[in-house]
Amino acid sequence: MTEREPLQELSTRLAESFAQTIELLGALVAAVERFYEGSHCRFVSQKAAEVARRLGCSELEVFEIQVAGLLHDIGKIGYPESVLQKFPTEMTAEERRLYERHPELGWHILRKHSALHGVAELVLQHHERLDGSGFPQRLRGRQIRLGAAIIAVVDVFHNAVSKRRRDRRVVQESPPTPPEVAYRQYLSAVHHLEAKAGALYHPEVVRTFVELMEEERRQLGQKLLQAVPVNQLRPGMVVAENYYTSYGLLVVAQGEQVTPEMVPVLVRFAEVGEVPRKVLVWV
Ligand SMILES: [Fe+2]
Ligand SMILES: [Fe+2]
Repeated sequence: MTEREPLQELSTRLAESFAQTIELLGALVAAVERFYEGSHCRFVSQKAAEVARRLGCSELEVFEIQVAGLLHDIGKIGYPESVLQKFPTEMTAEERRLYERHPELGWHILRKHSALHGVAELVLQHHERLDGSGFPQRLRGRQIRLGAAIIAVVDVFHNAVSKRRRDRRVVQESPPTPPEVAYRQYLSAVHHLEAKAGALYHPEVVRTFVELMEEERRQLGQKLLQAVPVNQLRPGMVVAENYYTSYGLLVVAQGEQVTPEMVPVLVRFAEVGEVPRKVLVWV
């Protein structure tokens, strides 16, 4: 055996352990997502990474943005329901103070891992705005890192289209948002981002993100809606509904691409009756 092999083995195991740590933290963040339709952190992570790729960020930067997107609200863990449920404009002064601390709390948690220092910085900055009206540091313009500016845009959009008043652990069977209402919310979120591009949000990021969303809408329009047995799901299909367990855990979210890792998870949940044996997908 050469000397390199044990070293390579070690580095592979460390990389795996790092990926598992991130997955574990991501699962914890799901605890503060009870008032969203779908997965807020997964949406922000995936779309922010894609915007970063399109803006020419390096692979390492894209990875950092993807992880920061997944963990951006980790500082809200343990927050009372009253804060998790409300939009900032509806909060009392005290709730608002607590809410505005979450980027810093997240930064403190993530700083504990030396490999997550860059990610911690993006999490700290994800509520900063170009004109200095954000928090916690009231940074302006170029003081805000591109990754944080990207997460900010995706975050604002997803809050506008997917935040709900009901706790999905309590109300499992409430009807999904009708398509025309969803489309109105989509248009008003896009309009808000475009109207405030250059003032609050990075204009290039807004342009790239809106392009990405429009492309995805067009692609979905060309696909067919079908109920497919969970063991026959294939990559390229797009999940058409949110699937929760009976205790409110989101298994897969509407709009998520089917991945090879997703299939065995859905098969296992279907076997124990926690999700249907056939799921609705666009193919
Ligand atoms: Fe946040
Ligand atoms: Fe968020």
